[in-house]
Amino acid sequence: MYDFKIAAADDATMYRDLASALEGLIAGEPDAIANMANIAALLWESLPDLNWAGFYRNVSGELIVGPFQGKAACIRIPFGKGVCGAAAATRETQLVEDVHAFPGHIACDGRSRSEIVVPVVDKEGRLIAVFDVDSETPAAFDAVDAEWLERILQDTFAD
Ligand code: SME
Repeated sequence: MYDFKIAAADDATMYRDLASALEGLIAGEPDAIANMANIAALLWESLPDLNWAGFYRNVSGELIVGPFQGKAACIRIPFGKGVCGAAAATRETQLVEDVHAFPGHIACDGRSRSEIVVPVVDKEGRLIAVFDVDSETPAAFDAVDAEWLERILQDTFAD
């Protein structure tokens, strides 16, 4: 088992440490599901205030729950539905401060209040998954989280 101690000094420092821990953890490993599992575990352990962190994989044009940490979740999400479906359909990060104000939000866990969902694209430019982090705190995530999560996912799956 790996024991990375990522101190949450400030967001930029925390994400820098996280990115370098992940670089070591994932280096040379081509299996996407293994890498998704380790990313979900490390982010779950490192980011404050989460109640879910994980992947929905693109399986033949439908999102199916993949490696995650947190409570058991909805299994299948159509493209275009909810926050995850919107990220998959638009291939754009969805930063949602208040999930109740998001049309079609899927309440897997009724206590979730805010979330961020980042599309995950491989080297060939194919959408392989979306990465979803949820919190019970309203507006728990901001543009810094979006930027770093995009960078980490791109470095892992597209570079
Ligand atoms: N929040 C997502 C559903 C997935 S779960 O929260 C784990 C959505 O509305 O897309």
